Amino acid sequence: MDNLPRGTLVNLKDLSIGEITEILDIAEEFMEGKRANLGDKLVANLFFEPSTRTRYSFEAAESRLGCQVLSFAKEASSMLKGESLYDTVKTFSQYVDAIIIRHSEDNFYEDLLGNIPVPIINGGDGSGNHPTQSLLDLLTIRQEFGRFEGLKIVIAGDIAHSRVAHTNIEVMRRLGMEVFLSAPPELQDDEEYVELDDIIGEVDIVMLLRVQFERHQEKLNISQEEYHRLYGLTLERYEKIQDHAIIMHPAPVNRGLEIDDSLVECEKSRIFKQMKNGMYIRMAVLYRALTKGDEDDSY
Ligand code: CP
Repeated sequence: MDNLPRGTLVNLKDLSIGEITEILDIAEEFMEGKRANLGDKLVANLFFEPSTRTRYSFEAAESRLGCQVLSFAKEASSMLKGESLYDTVKTFSQYVDAIIIRHSEDNFYEDLLGNIPVPIINGGDGSGNHPTQSLLDLLTIRQEFGRFEGLKIVIAGDIAHSRVAHTNIEVMRRLGMEVFLSAPPELQDDEEYVELDDIIGEVDIVMLLRVQFERHQEKLNISQEEYHRLYGLTLERYEKIQDHAIIMHPAPVNRGLEIDDSLVECEKSRIFKQMKNGMYIRMAVLYRALTKGDEDDSY
């Protein structure tokens, strides 16, 4: 959609490779000590689903940029009197300069775009998209390998319910990466799948996904031990990973389920690095949304 407020970010498909690269570059500048003071800007964080990383790394980013923040609690709002998401967001847009929203509905933003006068940033929509997570994943990969083209990644786990997988598959293929998917039959969608054991020794990146029990209509027909043995990153599978390869996971992690507990913080793991990168990515995304591209007015 044309003419959205600058900095609106609901789906990475809307950004060109150049725009994605620009966000990664700004995030690296913040990591290397770039400072900005957006003290006259006010941001609202509207989280309708639980979150630790996205919510608090946005808050940390807002604080580091000097922004003022309005936090939102649905239980204390007029949504309990029946007010719609649309009217709630439109109301906030009268007070603030940008709005971060996480919501359990896929594409929750469709009715909002074009009607809200400030940038909306998607903090994760249902099983749809998680653009800032993918950006932090890309930053982590670029820091490690210095490129995307030709890299091989296997994304393994609950693909069907994963907004992270859906966003990463599209953008990583667009960047020239070879993306393999591996999942139990119950957790597959209409992509092609491979056995983890057949590919794990060939890839540069092993990305595990959390089994999202809260989104499952039917329970998996296997025990947690069996899931770990059949589909998880076990110690045995870890031995097959190439020396230079890295392990990623968007977290929260079900330790001992999709990944052996002892591997969460192993030498090849970049899981906590991803979390730190998330703060710098969210600083860059906010900076882009709040400065209108005019760097001079932000210092
Ligand atoms: N990776 C991620 O989105 O984590 P949270 O649900 O804790 O925000």
